[in-house]
Amino acid sequence: MSDEGTRRVRVAAESDLFDGAGLAVKAGDKAIALFRVEGRFYAIDNACPHRGGPLAEGDVEGHIVHCPWHGWTWDVRTGLNPRQPASKVNCFAVSVEDGSVFVDIGEVPATG
Ligand code: FES
Repeated sequence: MSDEGTRRVRVAAESDLFDGAGLAVKAGDKAIALFRVEGRFYAIDNACPHRGGPLAEGDVEGHIVHCPWHGWTWDVRTGLNPRQPASKVNCFAVSVEDGSVFVDIGEVPATG
C-alpha cells in the first residue's frame, strides 16, 4: 500500500556493511552498489558507465566512490560524477527498517 507504484527490495542487513564500505547486491534484475557512509546507506548502479567497472569494489572517500578500474568518481548520494556533472549513474532511494536495508528500484512496469 505504502509502496504503491514502486518496488522496494530487501538487499542486506544493516550489519553487512561497516562505515565506508561498499557491497554489490541484487534488487530484482538490477545490480546495485550499496554504500554505508557516516551511518547512512546509499545505492547506485553497480556498473560504471565508462566500461562497466564494479563500483561496489571502489574506494570510498567521504561520499565519493572511485571506480576500481580507471578511477572515475561518483557521488553515492546523487549518482553524479563530480568532475563531469553531465555524467550520472542511477541512484536509488534506500530505507532501513528493523536492521534490514531496502532499496526502492523504481516504478512497477506499466500494465496498460
Ligand atoms: S570502468 Fe569505471 S572508470 Fe573505467
